Amino acid sequence: MDRQQQFLLYIFSCFSFLLLFSENTRVYGSSHHHHHHHHRHRHLFDFRPSKLFVFGDSYADTGNNRNSLASSWKVPYGITFPGKPAGRFSDGRVLTDFLAKSIGIKSPIPYRWRKVVGIEHWKNGMNFAYGGTGVLSTLVPEPNMTTQIDFFQDIIHEKFYSGSDLHSSVALVSVAGNDYSNYIATNGTAQGWQPFITKVVNQLVMNMKRIHGMGVKKVVVTALQPLGCLPRSTFTSSFQQCNGTENELVSFHNLLLQQAVIKLNNDTKKGSTFAILDLYDAFMAVFKNKGEKPGSSKFVNPLKPCCAGISTAYSCGSVDANGAKKYAVCDDPGAAFFWDTVHPTQEGWRAVYSALLQEL
Ligand SMILES: *[C@@H]1O[C@H](CO)[C@@H](O)[C@H](O)[C@H]1NC(C)=O
Ligand SMILES: *[C@@H]1O[C@H](CO)[C@@H](O)[C@H](O)[C@H]1NC(C)=O
Ligand SMILES: *[C@@H]1O[C@H](CO)[C@@H](O)[C@H](O)[C@H]1NC(C)=O
Ligand SMILES: *[C@@H]1O[C@H](CO)[C@@H](O)[C@H](O)[C@H]1NC(C)=O
Repeated sequence: MDRQQQFLLYIFSCFSFLLLFSENTRVYGSSHHHHHHHHRHRHLFDFRPSKLFVFGDSYADTGNNRNSLASSWKVPYGITFPGKPAGRFSDGRVLTDFLAKSIGIKSPIPYRWRKVVGIEHWKNGMNFAYGGTGVLSTLVPEPNMTTQIDFFQDIIHEKFYSGSDLHSSVALVSVAGNDYSNYIATNGTAQGWQPFITKVVNQLVMNMKRIHGMGVKKVVVTALQPLGCLPRSTFTSSFQQCNGTENELVSFHNLLLQQAVIKLNNDTKKGSTFAILDLYDAFMAVFKNKGEKPGSSKFVNPLKPCCAGISTAYSCGSVDANGAKKYAVCDDPGAAFFWDTVHPTQEGWRAVYSALLQEL
């Protein structure tokens, strides 16, 4: 066992007792969700939200990151939807789109486009998420989550959204791990993981409180997906095995988040103001149930990406100086769970979303 593994074991012996108390924390909406078990249609919320406000990273961004280096604006991103690259880090729709659809509203416009599209398009809410960003600042120049919430605050000060608009709205907060990629990229140490993860979760919790404090009725945050199962980690095993060390770090983040959400809900008295969308369990359920559950049987090897660079020097969308493609795309993106080395395909997100609803 190396030092990092010893350290992780230590963390887990300390924290696993908390799991005993965590049965009831995957709150997806209603504090009375047992009533809904007999209903045919499952919803994430105990009210009908009229607007969706979105914060976070590439799992939720629908066009804010316009950086010329961002893959979301390169071919073949967007080939399934809308048919060309348009700012989503996928072949098609992403988490934001599926959540909006299930609420019954159009996907909220990216903040970046707010002036271009005219104010009537603001009615579904607004998406402040930028691919590549974290709770803390990362190596990309795009705004971190704090700055994204500052943008939201400015918009509220413009008084387009009334208090009752906000009170019938939901916030989606996506945290897909850029803080941790950044920690590794800037040579973070094994001993530093625990305080760093704690710092990220503490800041995240402050952000969630701040969004709620601005009047948003319900704040939903994603639990980290199994980072060790992303193709960027599994390529060393030909996409056969998840990296357990990375997934243990993820579990620590998720455990802290779960405890924080219990405490937030207890402190706000209402019981279900804050909720977790458990992407960890949803991703794992899709990986495990391939071939068993309708809808996920098509992912023959769910860990293998559809679009990848021809070598590790290249990535999906890379071209050389002459514009020649340096990547390959699978025949059917609809049969792949992962689009590139980090992001699910549209069908991948559809399966994840359906797993989230089934966990209710
Ligand atoms: C977010 O970015 C702003 C602007 O770069 C910076 O001042 C602030 O410290 C960052 N916040 C966090 C929590 O890292
Ligand atoms: C991290 O370490 C590598 C190799 O030792 C070095 O090249 C790089 O500059 C370091 N990066 C930072 C941000 O310290
Ligand atoms: C798993 O991830 C850790 C942390 O990123 C890394 O040090 C280790 O080499 C990885 N293990 C395998 C088998 O790839
Ligand atoms: C819940 O809140 C009450 C006060 O409102 C407090 O006494 C109690 O310790 C809290 N419980 C937890 C688990 O935080």
